[in-house]
Amino acid sequence: MKKSALVIGLFFIGFLLHSQDFKYVGAQKCKMCHNSEEKGKQFTKWTESLHSKAFATLQGPEAIKYGKEHNIADPSKEPKCLKCHATAAGVDATLIAGLTMEEGVSCETCHGPGSAYKSIPVMKDQAQSIKNGLIVPTEALCKKCHNPESPNYKTFDFATFSAKIAHPNPKK
Ligand code: HEC
Ligand code: HEC
Ligand code: HEC
Ligand code: HEC
Repeated sequence: MKKSALVIGLFFIGFLLHSQDFKYVGAQKCKMCHNSEEKGKQFTKWTESLHSKAFATLQGPEAIKYGKEHNIADPSKEPKCLKCHATAAGVDATLIAGLTMEEGVSCETCHGPGSAYKSIPVMKDQAQSIKNGLIVPTEALCKKCHNPESPNYKTFDFATFSAKIAHPNPKK
C-alpha cells in the first residue's frame, strides 16, 4: 500500500515538474507566424533593434576595451555581462530547445519560453497562452536589465524606450 502511494505521489510530482518545463525555442520559431506585413513584422523589427545584437556587442571594440580596463578577458564569456546581453546565458541548459547565445536579448526574454504556447489554438487565447508560459511584458521586466548595474546605463524611461522597440499588430 505504502509503496503504491509513494509511486503515485512521485508520479504526481513528476507531472507537476514536467508541466512547468517550458522550453526556449528561439526566435526563428516565432518568425514563421510573426513576420508578415499585415501582422506587424515583429521578427524583422527585432532584427533591426539593438536587442538582437546584444551578444555581438560583447565581442565589439567597446566591450573589449572595457574588459581590458576591468580585468575581464572576454566579455562575451563573462557571466556578469552575459546576464543582460544574452537570454541563453541565464537559462538552465535543459530548458534550451533552439535558443542561441547569438540571439542576444530574444523574443522569449520578454514573452517567456515558447515551447508550449507557440501553437495557434493556444496563441489565439491570451489566458491559455499565459498558462503555457507566455509573459506579458511590463516596465519591471525591462528594469531587470535597464538599471544602473549596467556599465553603460542610460536613464530608462519606459514610454520612450518602449516606443523605440514597438512591434504592434497594426490591426489591433
Ligand atoms: C503557429 C503560429 C505561431 C507561432 C509559431 C508563434 N505565434 Fe505568437 N501568436 C500567434 C497567433 C495566431 C496569435 C494571436 C494574435 C495575432 O494574430 O497576432 C499570437 C499572439 C502572440 C502574442 C500576443 C499575445 C497576447 O495576447 O498578449 C505574443 C506576445 C506572441 N504571439 C509571441 C510569440 C513568440 C515570442 C513566439 C515564439 C516563441 C510565438 N509567438 C510563436 C501565432 C503564433
Ligand atoms: C535581458 C535584458 C534586457 C531586458 C529584459 C530588456 N532590455 Fe532593452 N536592452 C538590453 C541590452 C543589453 C541593450 C543594448 C544592446 C546593445 O547595444 O547591444 C538594450 C537596448 C535597448 C534599447 C536601445 C537603447 C539605445 O541606446 O538605443 C531600447 C529602446 C530598449 N532596450 C528597450 C527595452 C524595453 C522597452 C524593455 C522592456 C519591454 C527592454 N528593453 C528589456 C537588455 C534588455
Ligand atoms: C544590468 C544589465 C547589464 C549588465 C550587467 C551589462 N550590461 Fe551592457 N548594456 C545594458 C543595457 C540595457 C545597454 C543599453 C544602454 C542603455 O540603454 O542603458 C547596454 C549597452 C552596452 C554596450 C553598448 C554601449 C552603448 O553605448 O550603449 C556595451 C559595449 C556594453 N553594454 C558592454 C557591457 C559589458 C562589457 C558588460 C560586463 C562588464 C555589460 N555590458 C554588462 C545592460 C547591461
Ligand atoms: C525587449 C522586450 C521584447 C522583445 C525582445 C520582444 N518583444 Fe514582443 N512585445 C514587447 C512588448 C513590451 C509588447 C507590448 C505588450 C503590450 O502592449 O501588452 C510586445 C508585443 C508583442 C506582440 C503583440 C503585438 C500586438 O499588437 O498584438 C507580439 C506578437 C510580439 N510582441 C512578438 C514578438 C516576437 C516574435 C519577438 C521576437 C522576434 C518579440 N516580440 C520580441 C516586448 C518585447
